[in-house]
Amino acid sequence: MKSFLLPLLIMAILIMSCGQSRDQNRSRTKNNDFKIKVDSLIKLMTLEEKVGQMVQYSGGWDLTGPKSDNNKLKKQQIEDGLVGSMLNVTSVEQVRAAQKLAIENSRLKIPMLFGYDVIHGYKTMFPLPLAEAASWDLDLMERTAKVSAKEAAAAGVNWTFAPMVDISRDARWGRIMESAGEDTYLNTVVGLAKMRGYQGDSLSDVNSIAACAKHFAAYGYVKSGKEYNTVSIGEHELHNVVLPPFKALAEAGIATFMNSFSDMDGIPATASYRLQTELLKDEWGYNGMIVSDWGSVEELSTHGVAEDFADAAKIAVNAGNDMGMESSAYAKHLVQLVEDGKVKESRINDAVSRILTLKYKLGLFEDPYKYCNEEREKNNIYTKEHLELAYEAALKSIVLLKNENKVLPISKDVKSIALIGPLANDKNSPLGNWRARAENNSAVSLYEGLKEKLPKNIDLKYHEGVDYVISGENFATPLKINTTDDSKIKEAVKIAKSQELVILAVGENAFQSGEGRSQTDIGFAGLQTRLIKAVYEANPNTIMVLMNGRPMDISWSAKNIPAIVEAWHLGSQAGYAIADVLLGKYNPSGKLPVSFPQSSGQEPFFYNHKNTGRPDVNPYDVIHSQHNDVPNEAVFPFGHGLSYTTFEYGDIQLSQNSFTKGESITAEIQITNTGDRVGEEVVQLYIRDLVGSITRPVLELKDFEKIKLQPGETKTVSFEINEETIKFYTINKKWEAEPGELKLFIASSSKSLKSKSFYFKT
Ligand code: BGC
Repeated sequence: MKSFLLPLLIMAILIMSCGQSRDQNRSRTKNNDFKIKVDSLIKLMTLEEKVGQMVQYSGGWDLTGPKSDNNKLKKQQIEDGLVGSMLNVTSVEQVRAAQKLAIENSRLKIPMLFGYDVIHGYKTMFPLPLAEAASWDLDLMERTAKVSAKEAAAAGVNWTFAPMVDISRDARWGRIMESAGEDTYLNTVVGLAKMRGYQGDSLSDVNSIAACAKHFAAYGYVKSGKEYNTVSIGEHELHNVVLPPFKALAEAGIATFMNSFSDMDGIPATASYRLQTELLKDEWGYNGMIVSDWGSVEELSTHGVAEDFADAAKIAVNAGNDMGMESSAYAKHLVQLVEDGKVKESRINDAVSRILTLKYKLGLFEDPYKYCNEEREKNNIYTKEHLELAYEAALKSIVLLKNENKVLPISKDVKSIALIGPLANDKNSPLGNWRARAENNSAVSLYEGLKEKLPKNIDLKYHEGVDYVISGENFATPLKINTTDDSKIKEAVKIAKSQELVILAVGENAFQSGEGRSQTDIGFAGLQTRLIKAVYEANPNTIMVLMNGRPMDISWSAKNIPAIVEAWHLGSQAGYAIADVLLGKYNPSGKLPVSFPQSSGQEPFFYNHKNTGRPDVNPYDVIHSQHNDVPNEAVFPFGHGLSYTTFEYGDIQLSQNSFTKGESITAEIQITNTGDRVGEEVVQLYIRDLVGSITRPVLELKDFEKIKLQPGETKTVSFEINEETIKFYTINKKWEAEPGELKLFIASSSKSLKSKSFYFKT
């Protein structure tokens, strides 16, 4: 191209980018506009510049100061227009500085994307995703994602690596905290709500950021819950259990996908043509872009499927990966690979077109500094309003697991309370792992919450009971837990004895769950079990408050402690929310998105298992599917959660007991609040397909509704069942509804079930 023509062309393309309409009805026209712009821009790009778009580097180095030797090369690459995106660069100052390098120096002035792990908030921390899923409140989850996006966008970020929709059935896997738990349907609807929150009505909005469905696919199935391990999963389980949330997000227009570190049946996800190209891009028609996971391109050589980094780049790009995260393999080798004919330039053009389209959609060509606004950064982050939402989310995520003899809410007659436990005054753990830019130790601890919320005449005594974590409270270093020094237990016991009631705050430090935090034992770590037993012996009038990022083995406590509150890692306002639940100012309404097993050895443990040929029908023999040392059922099942009021379920009424293609059945049930307090209940619909061409789960969640009832009030809840509801990936390797008998259950958990039979006829 003649060099004098180039500036004119660039100007023409930039002018074409201006004045994008936000009208959703015109989105098809808009997509065509984007296509024209993208195609014209690609025509101007050299192969080096195209490859550069596929490169993403992590920040963490000083963009505003002098160039350090280590990163000189990366900076130079940005200036040369050879970097498409950065991650971990936040704040208006840093993002502007980085963006300037690209805009003011590079030939084509293509803006960079700025990605960041905004997993459960940016600076205002909301409950962990697993915790928030316990609210079963999709509107709430959309609102917290919206606020997270607003804060991140105000700090220069335009892309979050969330939601994670990996089905997580093994509590030993540390990343279970990032998911919506063990169920496919729940992960799907939660993922969609989160996507709506992050992306808003239009990506062109200043408060919207691109979302990312991750990790594609089956990362949650790593063997024995061991981080980064291999995955063995059959084709039917992959389609029926793991893929549906991803497919739903692809169809709903999520901007990006991330592949996974895991190796599925011998093929690392980053190298999987089947997953990335055949399934996602071709079969599902996904036209967004796929980013690799951190260094997962280079890791193909560590996995042993690539000879070296050049080979790794070739395999990953040919498999369908569009951008390499913190990977230099693309920058170093892709140009040569194309020149040698090992990667087609059309594949590069496809990847670049997906990346540029996102940049157009975000409005970055109109204004590369769109997310760099000091006013918004000052006003939109960690506001009073956002903290109020964090408080609401924390309240709604709490699950009342057990409440014998109505120990809770704490009676007004109680005049003295002992608050004991290593998490009782922990201002850091409630922030959870993946805490983005939350300030360490900024959460309201339970002790602080109680001090503020309890009437002043109550004698509240606090003691930590054991020193829990010795060191390692950050993302990357191993956590060192005290397992020997029990010197503080004595004093805690003395205090427990001296007070009428004990609140015992135990569980997990924030850095026991999250990436790289797998455990073989999901019980209480350190000296907590000793503390729990000693305190309970001293004063059985004990309420346990659990704080954790995974379901735990709490079987001893579940038998002995009269009341247990699941308070997860609830974010910035944790202490206020827990105190309000304990004192009865809020009636708990959460339900478990995961099963609590009897012991670590039962993991992976989940409600929607198969019947097997020898189910547990006769507890007196051993010749059935079980572990001999523990009961088969959960200590607390999926969907379980109590309230301070009681709900009575009427009988299920079906509009008809059989249906065929194009028809539907309505199932109705009346729920009555039979207690004396206003309360919320999550009414859950499950289905069991009795006979299938492949074995079917004993139960599958299909729908739910959260309702609020005044004392004495009755509401009718109805669910529609149609062909879509009962379709699954059959022996024919297709999504089909098979004729036959099914059972429908409407219940307050996956355990207490009323059922009716119905039939699908073809
Ligand atoms: C994680 C991703 C994350 C990325 C960027 C990786 O280690 O697996 O989920 O988005 O890092 O921080």
